[in-house]
Amino acid sequence: MLLTFLLILGASFAAMAALLTGLVSSSLYAQRTRQASLSAEKLAASVAPFFAAADLESAADMLHSAAAEADGRVFLIDPEGKIQLDTLSLLEGTRIHVSEALQVLSGAQSRAYGVHALTDGEYAALCAAAMMEEDAVIGAVLLTTPVTELREAILGVERQLTSVFGAVAAAALVGALIFSFTLTAPIKALTSTIRRMGKGELSARVHVHTSGELKELAESYNTMAEKIENFDQSRSQFVQNASHELKTPLATMKILLENLIYQPDMPLELRQEFMQDMNHEIDRLSGIITDLLTLTQMDSQETAVKQEKVDLSDLCRSTVHTLRPAAEKAGLTLKDSIASGVALTGDVSKLSQVVYNLIDNAVKYTPEGGSVHVTLSADAHLARLIVRDTGIGIPEEDLKHIFERFYRVDKARSRATGGTGLGLSIVRQMVQLHSGEISVDSTLGKGTVFTVTLPVRKGDA
Ligand SMILES: Nc1ncnc2c1ncn2[C@@H]1O[C@H](COP(=O)(O)OP(=O)(O)OP(=O)(O)O)[C@@H](O)[C@H]1O
Ligand SMILES: [Mg+2]
Repeated sequence: MLLTFLLILGASFAAMAALLTGLVSSSLYAQRTRQASLSAEKLAASVAPFFAAADLESAADMLHSAAAEADGRVFLIDPEGKIQLDTLSLLEGTRIHVSEALQVLSGAQSRAYGVHALTDGEYAALCAAAMMEEDAVIGAVLLTTPVTELREAILGVERQLTSVFGAVAAAALVGALIFSFTLTAPIKALTSTIRRMGKGELSARVHVHTSGELKELAESYNTMAEKIENFDQSRSQFVQNASHELKTPLATMKILLENLIYQPDMPLELRQEFMQDMNHEIDRLSGIITDLLTLTQMDSQETAVKQEKVDLSDLCRSTVHTLRPAAEKAGLTLKDSIASGVALTGDVSKLSQVVYNLIDNAVKYTPEGGSVHVTLSADAHLARLIVRDTGIGIPEEDLKHIFERFYRVDKARSRATGGTGLGLSIVRQMVQLHSGEISVDSTLGKGTVFTVTLPVRKGDA
């Protein structure tokens, strides 16, 4: 970029300098040659009668005084191109080869001029004018005046322009270097951070001290990097928790199994009880694996939410029916106030997990003698499911965490009731998949209320 910038700048400046010197020199030369050719013309007109009359002496006088006046040299040339008179008396009798003189002699032009480099490095302006007698060319006068000081003036202008050009080019170079440094330094920093991140250093962040777009880019990059890092952390946390949860039932089973193996004379009832415990652990293990699969599937967005018609009233009634034996076994009253005909478009199996998990929790975390109340109502836009219990409640500081994966308020107690801490995180994700909301309200020792609202579209009912 820097190179292109400099090339464009250099080329345009060089063109400008050439144009300027060209203009200056041509105007200076034009001025000089105009004067000289006027004098040559005048001289030719006054010398012509003497030359025609073969009065070379008078002609020579006139030529000498003209040469002295112009500080130059004058030649008198006959129609054949032979020099008749040279004010320096050096070339008399020789043939002239100067194109301006030949042009004038041929009759093509009455005067001609040009600037010629001389052999000694000097420059001279040459002006030829025809000598006429009755419309016929009878010879020519060639006036040469040195233009060396004019050349030098032009060279001076050129030198001045070159030094200005050099100064501007140097300033442009410095400016471009500074510009490219401020532009490339943050990009370099960003690239090296991206490389580090690519190699797995997820905590790498870019520190850019510029402002504007590059700062914005760096900030967006850092935000993205932070998200990736958090995601990576939560993923490894998830794997850790999952393995831990899977290990617990396995360890219990191993102890039970070892007892069975190493105590062959164990009483039959005890053996039976151990086997039942093992069966229970296997159920638990399979339950955890099902939950884990559900969660990872939802993470990988594999779960397209089915758009089928769901009768929420039926769903709630049948879930209450399924859980009633467990509630009765736990000595609880399970009441329901379920409005009929509440329907919406969604995924039956997902919604049924929502209802099941909430009622299951209420039953699990309510001590004997308590009650669980399931309410379903709807208005034109929302279906509202409320699961209220008179159970142990959730401490204020835990409320904001209960929807996190593997989060349990009382780990020891929850494990005794078989909980893994995945139920509510699944519930929340499924509610969100249906564009619904879930909220919780709880008083420690008094009970808990979970409220789920789901949008009902026109035509669902
Ligand atoms: N109705 C409730 N009353 C009191 N505490 C509750 C209630 N529902 C949930 N909790 C608390 O929130 C925690 C998380 O609940 P969640 O359903 O996610 O997990 P879990 O019931 O322990 O296990 P899982 O549902 O995966 O078998 C529970 O461990 C429990 O401490
Ligand atoms: Mg649960």
